Amino acid sequence: MKRRSLLSLAVLTGAGAILGGCSADERQSALTFTNRLRIPPPAAPVTDPDGAKRFTLTLQTGSTEFRPGTVTAGTWGVNGSYLGPAVRANRGDRVRMSVVNRLPEATTLHWHGMRLPAKMDGGPHQMIEPGTTWTPEWTVDQPAATSWFHPHPHGKTAMHVYRGLAGLFLIDDPDGPRLPSAYGVDDIPLIVQDKEIDSDGELETGGVDRGTFGLLGSTILINGTYDPVLPVSTSLVRFRLLNASNTRVYRIGFADGRRFDVIAGDAGLLDRPATVDRVKISPGERVEIVARFFPGETVVLDSRGEPRRTANDIEEDDFHLLEIVAAAQLTPSPAPPATLGGPGRATTPPGARVRRFSLSGSEINGRDMDMSRIDEVVPAGAVEIWEIDNTTYAHNFHIHEVSFRILDIDGSPPPPYQAGPKDTVFLPKNANARLLVHFGPHTDPLTPYMYHCHLLRHEDKGMMGQFVVVGPGTEHLVPRNLPTGHHHG
Ligand code: C2O
Ligand code: CU
Repeated sequence: MKRRSLLSLAVLTGAGAILGGCSADERQSALTFTNRLRIPPPAAPVTDPDGAKRFTLTLQTGSTEFRPGTVTAGTWGVNGSYLGPAVRANRGDRVRMSVVNRLPEATTLHWHGMRLPAKMDGGPHQMIEPGTTWTPEWTVDQPAATSWFHPHPHGKTAMHVYRGLAGLFLIDDPDGPRLPSAYGVDDIPLIVQDKEIDSDGELETGGVDRGTFGLLGSTILINGTYDPVLPVSTSLVRFRLLNASNTRVYRIGFADGRRFDVIAGDAGLLDRPATVDRVKISPGERVEIVARFFPGETVVLDSRGEPRRTANDIEEDDFHLLEIVAAAQLTPSPAPPATLGGPGRATTPPGARVRRFSLSGSEINGRDMDMSRIDEVVPAGAVEIWEIDNTTYAHNFHIHEVSFRILDIDGSPPPPYQAGPKDTVFLPKNANARLLVHFGPHTDPLTPYMYHCHLLRHEDKGMMGQFVVVGPGTEHLVPRNLPTGHHHG
């Protein structure tokens, strides 16, 4: 069945969402899988005299033809009119980014999932004014992973991401296991985003910064491709799923219910493949899967809401995402290894420091984000337990710089596919999670990292806090107020 109509969006979209001229049903049922899936082009670095790989990323405005013959104005992209290239680096590489802001307003570029010094992080304290260039650099020192980049200006992230500013940052480890890795052939990124695009092609933005959840769009784009189809030519294909939507949560699998292997989460490989028929992925999260195809078949990748639906959750709509068409002859792929090299199940270390974060409405521990306030001071290299208690509707929780493991959700261990290294965790209504968080070595008492809900409407409303990482034993010396709420540079 190629057609499935949407459930009512009206109850889910919040006060300000705009559904546009034709109904969600009409638009979704029009999918015919006719546009070849776009693969984000690899970014081409130059090697600087000191050996660093330099990538130039230009943030720019443009218009984009999502539907053939219909031009959508007002999209933003990186080195193009919508989304950006795939930046790629090896573990151990020195990278230097030239981020050129050709937008009409100030923004930032944050390296989501990257472990680096706070000044290089691209959070709300590293604003890039229009017409200027920001040049962070760092040494990539973390396991292979599918990371990404997107703007992070305080209060404006939702709109900047919605207009199209986001891209992949793939980290490779030459010592890693042998996996499908021919980019665009059997290693396919899938950046999943929902938009509201009306019949004239206009990008609806009115709901993005309104309502409880902001805009929940009825049009799904994959890598910026509307109504996408992907021909495949190998028996196994690795898909790197990235939820780069503002708010939507997907439960992704195949329409025919076939099972597949999850090999990695946000921050790296699992210890062994986890076989599932669906993965849930909330904004900011990544899941890498390997799926098997048979010669000549056609199968649809889709998203289906939880069978048991609860009021005020946000993952409840059904969508077709992508049609995959297997060639009549498929090149046989070697089986993925039985062990992948990631860490095994996390256990609670005795004596670890515990910090508690209560999520209510769009506040954390009863407070809104304040750019001049340091909420937490963490010693470098610490391993801590962060308990996240969601007392209201659906949220998620992302921590910059770190990698964490989910110890438990509502008292139970996470499903095996979510047991690996992560940086973002979904918290359904009233859920709580305990995270085992590994902090990095980079100290800076004056420049904070962020933790926040990655539902961008919530983040923009102030559901964010700041922590600094400092030399062990110096915690008490750290000022809890920053001299200014807003520094540039
Ligand atoms: Cu993906 Cu604080 O961000
Ligand atoms: Cu939230």
